[in-house]
Amino acid sequence: MTDLSRRSFLRFAASSSAVLAMPIFSEGYMAASAMPQTSSATTSQPIYIDANENPLGPSAKARQAIVEMAPHGGRYDLDLTKQLVKSFSEINNVPSEYVRAFAGSSAPLQYAVLIFTSPSKSYVTADPSYEAGMRAALVSKARVVKVPLTADYAHDIPAMMRNAPDAGLFYICNPNNPSGTTTPQERIDYLVARKPAGSLVMVDEAYYHFTDMPSSMDLVKAGKDVIVLRTFSKIYGMAGLRCGFAVARPEILEKLYDVQGWNPLSTTGVAAAIASLQENNLVPERRKINTGVRSNVFEWMQKQNISYIPSQTNFFMMDTKRNGKTVMAAMAAKGVMIGRTWPIWPSRVRITVGTQEEMDRFQHAYKQVMQSTEEALLESIPAGFRHPEWREGFVS
Ligand SMILES: Cc1ncc(COP(=O)(O)O)c(C=O)c1O
Repeated sequence: MTDLSRRSFLRFAASSSAVLAMPIFSEGYMAASAMPQTSSATTSQPIYIDANENPLGPSAKARQAIVEMAPHGGRYDLDLTKQLVKSFSEINNVPSEYVRAFAGSSAPLQYAVLIFTSPSKSYVTADPSYEAGMRAALVSKARVVKVPLTADYAHDIPAMMRNAPDAGLFYICNPNNPSGTTTPQERIDYLVARKPAGSLVMVDEAYYHFTDMPSSMDLVKAGKDVIVLRTFSKIYGMAGLRCGFAVARPEILEKLYDVQGWNPLSTTGVAAAIASLQENNLVPERRKINTGVRSNVFEWMQKQNISYIPSQTNFFMMDTKRNGKTVMAAMAAKGVMIGRTWPIWPSRVRITVGTQEEMDRFQHAYKQVMQSTEEALLESIPAGFRHPEWREGFVS
């Protein structure tokens, strides 16, 4: 079994019986009872707070839409995708020609890097940030310019511009993964106004809904050289259903589609996305649930004197003051799968905000792990968990 399929297998084994018996609960019920659909907080099953997923899964109405769409799954349904694009553009007051739906936001992110960077047009990113674009830049053979975040964990826009006069694409992850922090809109506006001619700014708003920050979509509406990415994988709890958007001028979107070719979306994913957009309260309710659980874990860390970055999203970086990879492995051995380290921050690990029960289990396991010496810790880790690098190939 490969490392990645091990992850899938563990998850499936843990959740399959729960899924089979899955009734449709209201959001309030799910939050109160912590009846996660994609993870389990019982002590016998591993918990996954490693990939910034939403433990609530798709909303009740989205699940219903999936069930209703399933019998029609034998057909490509391009009209359904058009309907999704229309809903999104109406809600966001952006012309529908400026919006394209994809199977998640990873696809347009990678296509944009392939199209707009090259050996003579660099790929510019914060450090640390979400690394998928850097991987695509290996294919386009672009120079990768990594610029450390500022002291307040924002993108250092002047340094990004200074270090890349040859920029093809500026990748701005806002809020940033893994810091969970935002870059003020005026700094992004500044970049867009003064970037090198011919370059593009891609603003990845995967975690936008967890915050009250403005969106860079206004720059797209104003006709600027900007692509905004959105996804249903995070607040909407649809990571496995694969649905997202790129928002940009039509000729930029055309280029993305040229790379993608014929690749219609999953009809169940699109049906779930349409249903989710129709639920006006979904985003504020889920944001509130996430903020509540996150505040509790922040309070706990303050009491424990653990330093962390005050994230505005559904994940945060905490400083273990140890080798983060060893801590990850020791936690995995206790059935608590936490997120990874970044090369620039080797002692920090990224934790996804799960349900309250999951965070309680995380806190309990973390305390135990930190009571052990590094040596005892290494000894306590079973062979299968000794190399947490297996998750390194898994960019999330
Ligand atoms: C910042 C960021 N962008 C994009 C993605 C890709 O998500 P998806 O392809 O599921 O939309 C992720 C996934 O974790 C992410 O963290």
